[in-house]
Amino acid sequence: MNHPNMGGVALVNPPAFVKNQKLIDWVTEIVALTRPKQVIWCDGSQEEYDRLCSEMVAAGTMKKLNPAKRPNSYLANSDPSDVARVEDRTFICSEKAEDAGPTNNWIAPVEMRSTLHGLFTHCMEGRTLYVVPFSMGPLGSPIAHIGVELSDSPYVAVNMRVMTRMGKAVYDVLGTHGEFVPCVHSVGAPLPAGKKDVAWPCNETKYIVHFPETREIWSYGSGYGGNALLGKKCFALRIASTMGRDQGWLAEHMLILGVESPQGDKHYVAAAFPSACGKTNFAMLIPPASLHGWKVTTIGDDIAWIKPGADGRLYAINPEAGYFGVAPGTNSTTNANCMASLTRDTIFTNVALTDDGDVWWEGLSKEAPAHLIDWQGKDWTPQDAQASGRKAAHPNARFTVAATQNPVLDSAWDDPAGVPISAFIFGGRRSTTVPLVTEARNWTEGVYMAATMGSETTAAAAGQQGVVRRDPFAMLPFMGYNMSDYFAHWLSLGKKLDSSGAVLPKIFCVNWFRTDANGKFIWPGFGDNMRVLKWMLERIDHKAAAKENIFGLTPTFDDLTWDGLSFSADQYESITSIDHQAWQAELSLHAELFKKLEYNLPPELERTRVMLANKLAA
Ligand code: OXD
Ligand code: MN
Repeated sequence: MNHPNMGGVALVNPPAFVKNQKLIDWVTEIVALTRPKQVIWCDGSQEEYDRLCSEMVAAGTMKKLNPAKRPNSYLANSDPSDVARVEDRTFICSEKAEDAGPTNNWIAPVEMRSTLHGLFTHCMEGRTLYVVPFSMGPLGSPIAHIGVELSDSPYVAVNMRVMTRMGKAVYDVLGTHGEFVPCVHSVGAPLPAGKKDVAWPCNETKYIVHFPETREIWSYGSGYGGNALLGKKCFALRIASTMGRDQGWLAEHMLILGVESPQGDKHYVAAAFPSACGKTNFAMLIPPASLHGWKVTTIGDDIAWIKPGADGRLYAINPEAGYFGVAPGTNSTTNANCMASLTRDTIFTNVALTDDGDVWWEGLSKEAPAHLIDWQGKDWTPQDAQASGRKAAHPNARFTVAATQNPVLDSAWDDPAGVPISAFIFGGRRSTTVPLVTEARNWTEGVYMAATMGSETTAAAAGQQGVVRRDPFAMLPFMGYNMSDYFAHWLSLGKKLDSSGAVLPKIFCVNWFRTDANGKFIWPGFGDNMRVLKWMLERIDHKAAAKENIFGLTPTFDDLTWDGLSFSADQYESITSIDHQAWQAELSLHAELFKKLEYNLPPELERTRVMLANKLAA
């Protein structure tokens, strides 16, 4: 099925196992537009992965780590200008501006298409175009969806192999007429004859563009993470959220974990936290030894697709197959399971290189090595760091690793049917105001808590850090449609399940991050979060007490298990107290948010706000 060489345009040459004409036609069209020097149809094999990595080592994009230290692992250092998701360059180009809503950047599709046409014309000159077929969710499962990313970045191709079910089997599932979400990606750095390449090509101009109605993704100028691995945020959240709205399911920025009690009762919970707020750590939590017999297992660490089952319960799958987690702060105390996952077959990005060919990042060990090569390729010593504050690893440095390397991977992680969800947890990073844990009294109150969630910003996104912003459902950067319509979707799903007689998952709001007068976290977090999780499960099973306050239900000091932890009632008070003044200010920020989201805002939410404000004033 060879295609003619169209006068200087690379041969598309689809292999015999590609039988989907729509796919072949689309690749042909993009090749004609972008003019790569060659096309490679990825088969997802180990041999292909190894070959692409070796080519990137030769090109200076990656370094192979010392195999005696970390077998089959690599370090990539990005351009210093390309280190995080670019939210201000991310666009939802629905036909109508109001369908993107006030939390998204919107440009009319015709205008955006014309801009993209200009940017993508010949933008892959001198580069290879990789055809990367991937399935989000178990291959062939009725709840999975297929995407194909065309990218001129081999770094993207190898990362997609880890992060998704990528390769030849996807073409088989696609068959002759299967549907796929087309994703076009270019680093935006054409390489005309005679021009020398750089280790991390990218472009100052960046566009991360979604067309929700036609379910298309176009990404230009960045090779980093969520900007470039288009199965993740672009497809599994922004495009999938619109699919979920249309088809009656949810695409959420949530980890999914399994918890088993010493008696063998098992529940699955899904938890939404903004980027870099510890989702990976929570998903791989190791319960304290003093809580004998409790076990936590991982289904996913970042994204959940959740669908109502025939029995009226909500079933969740992790559409991804790997973890693209934040490295700094990860160590054998904060996340030993993660450290065990990273011992081999891992791609690191923007961490530091040790003199013996291994990796290091802030927080990996108490003492930094005496000498490192930092994430920008410069010599680094702890003395330099002390003098200038220069970090060895970028704060948004990442690891890419297959889920199957996680020692506590749940046995149902790949189950096409998904796992039933017993509770949703929402949590922001708040140094003040928000108590350790609150249970919503009903679904609407839970949706209110999630909708008004605030969090201090982190390095996962370019921009100012540490400022509180409203991040509804931890979805602010990932919503593919109007936020108020999304709230309405959650409310109507709850009503539908409720009227079918199903028991709805409980909804909790947590905050691990309250600080003392010196700015130190009061709550120990990490494994000790199991104490809060245990209480939640006991609430679900009607085994634990709770006290009602203005905002919902909370455990008293005596309702949590303290074995093995010295944490006083006074300390507990300092992370659970409700400061009336702070909450008055908080509720006026909720009002401000609702003003912004006024168009189509479900009236139940404003009614809930007024009810809470009245209770506070009483
Ligand atoms: C991520 C993010 O990479 O949320 O998961 O930024
Ligand atoms: Mn995330």
